[in-house]
Amino acid sequence: MKTNESLLAERNQHIPQGLFNVHPIFAEKARGAIITDVEGKEYIDFAGGIGVNNVGHCDDEVLKAVQDQIQKYIHTCFHVVMYEPYVELAKKLNQITPGNFPKKTMFANSGAEGVENAIKIARHATGRTGTIAFEDAFHGRTLLALSLTSKMKPYKFGFAPYAPEIYRMPYAYCYRCAFGLEYPSCEIHCAYFLRDFFHTHISAEQVAALIVEPVLGEGGFVVPPREYFKILHKICQDNGIVFIADEVQTGFGRTAKMFAVEHFEVEPDITVMAKSLAGGFPLSAITGRAELMDHPQVGGLGGTFSGNPVACRAALAVLEQFKNLNLLSKAEKIGKKVLEKFREFQEHYPVVGDVRGLGAMVGMELVVDRKTKEPATALTKRLINLCCEKGLLMISAGTHSNIIRPLMPLVITHDQLDEGLKIIGEALDELHQT
Ligand SMILES: Cc1ncc(COP(=O)(O)O)c(C=O)c1O
Repeated sequence: MKTNESLLAERNQHIPQGLFNVHPIFAEKARGAIITDVEGKEYIDFAGGIGVNNVGHCDDEVLKAVQDQIQKYIHTCFHVVMYEPYVELAKKLNQITPGNFPKKTMFANSGAEGVENAIKIARHATGRTGTIAFEDAFHGRTLLALSLTSKMKPYKFGFAPYAPEIYRMPYAYCYRCAFGLEYPSCEIHCAYFLRDFFHTHISAEQVAALIVEPVLGEGGFVVPPREYFKILHKICQDNGIVFIADEVQTGFGRTAKMFAVEHFEVEPDITVMAKSLAGGFPLSAITGRAELMDHPQVGGLGGTFSGNPVACRAALAVLEQFKNLNLLSKAEKIGKKVLEKFREFQEHYPVVGDVRGLGAMVGMELVVDRKTKEPATALTKRLINLCCEKGLLMISAGTHSNIIRPLMPLVITHDQLDEGLKIIGEALDELHQT
């Protein structure tokens, strides 16, 4: 029988080091919120394959849809022979994404590809070249998406030159406000700053799109004040700039609404989705105003595997399961419990500098010192490793990798959730004593 150790040795021999691995284990099977490794050890999954398994691992209905589809056909390429699941899913996403206007949807394979297509469409439709992105943003690893991503090491380092015409402004990261202000007396200066930005970085009439995560994912589960996006959106509208919401990580119920922008009451011109859209199958969707989406010429958009029928069928089943399993209200309950527990940790352990969240997207930022807010990067890594040893899988986030970001499947049971939180508490306790 292969062990984690023997597989790791093979992995190291055959696979480049550049592909990071958080945990030294190999999966044998996974169901719901539990992953079993090749040695038979069970782990509670607070990572969800980086936010992909909101409906749980191997959901029965997703499995049924996929099994049915693979008996019929697996790939024809939508550009060669069309198929109904693509059309049906596009129709559904046009209905459920925020925005009370006619919409159209196209599919790609990954979040990064979704982001790239959104930018292409915005450039084509506006005839402009510039894109405004944010500090601490993560939009993917392909070269345009990577250029939009903020974190230098390890993501961008050594991969220059980056795509041109990208301009970056601070995000509404209240715990570490770039302007040294405090909410609410700041009067959301960081959003109105966009107007100054047009004078100092790029003229508004050169900007095709502003792309933003409604809650920073990889950037550390940072939740902006409620007013933030309305202000940004209005400035974009006034200046003919396409407002793109990157809902790749926030989407599909993570924040207890299907899309996080719904909390902020804005209607993006384009919404990008991926991750939990298709229950683990690689699929991204770009949904936007019909007139924008229709702008590029025939053949200007697409890809060989884009909108694979098996992935589309999986996504249709995911949408049904959101209703059947009441996953939005589950997300709310999970979020409440995690927030409560993380706040308890904050009271007990000085290392917990900040706790924040929206729905089940709750983050805990670890610092060496609460006054200086020096990120506790090494300690965060130790915490994650310790939790893994104790049977809980977690990942970190943040430009300094000092934020705990649980992305557990929303089907997690009460007991599993309690046990996972208990393990974090025990690990914090051990680290506190060393
Ligand atoms: C907000 C956001 N956008 C885009 C991406 C890129 O997605 P993918 O890794 O599927 O290319 C991610 C991935 O973590 C993400 O969190």
